[in-house]
Amino acid sequence: MLFDTHAHMDDEAFDLDREELLASLPGQGIGLLMNPGCSYESSRNAIKLAEKYDYIYAAVGSHPDVADEVDEELIAKYRELCKHEKVKAIGEIGLDYHYEDIPRDIQKRAFRMQMALAAELDLPVIVHEREAHEDGLKIVDEFPTVKGVFHCYSGSLEMAKELIKRGWYIGFTGVLTFKNARKALEVAAGIPLERIVIETDCPYMAPVPYRGKRNDPGKVCHMAAKLAELRGISPEEARRITMENGKRLYRMD
Ligand code: NI
Repeated sequence: MLFDTHAHMDDEAFDLDREELLASLPGQGIGLLMNPGCSYESSRNAIKLAEKYDYIYAAVGSHPDVADEVDEELIAKYRELCKHEKVKAIGEIGLDYHYEDIPRDIQKRAFRMQMALAAELDLPVIVHEREAHEDGLKIVDEFPTVKGVFHCYSGSLEMAKELIKRGWYIGFTGVLTFKNARKALEVAAGIPLERIVIETDCPYMAPVPYRGKRNDPGKVCHMAAKLAELRGISPEEARRITMENGKRLYRMD
């Protein structure tokens, strides 16, 4: 069985066939799925899906793209949502300096407020960090009790090792299968297997040979296969290890 540790099933890309797709995933080998929230609204929708499907779990949080929605009032609402038994993490939260539609100071403030909530509730976090490596690691260091995953990892091997030293996990998407994936492959080959989780980040980041098309959790098997090839283990072993890692990351039994 496979664990898709990061899938946005509440995304509008699934509006036409969501129920059909979700009903079919266990038959495609998907044993567990984590649906992170991207905003307050998306977090609530993630919980609704988790209520409907046994194998789906939810995280709540505001993505750096909507960092300007985060204030004390919203943190209080997230605190309430975290009482739900299927909410297992805070996310996805973090920093994205690629577009900068939201000023960096506002992103950092939202990231810190949500990291503080994770520390208060003792929950793992799902971090989105793009082109903000230095500030990302700096804020992680401000909250030493908080652990989690850097999802869709795009940093260096060195930084991955720093995160692992601090008890964090590294998440890999379909980028692993891309032709120009040199950096991601170097990281996936150079860190301990027990700290690697796999994810689709669907509807984005579809693996080869679906690159550019809509991604879905059924395609996470391609990430397991690539990891197996890279680490010289069997695909079954890669599935088993990444499943165990995901459960440890999100503290599921
Ligand atoms: Ni995501």
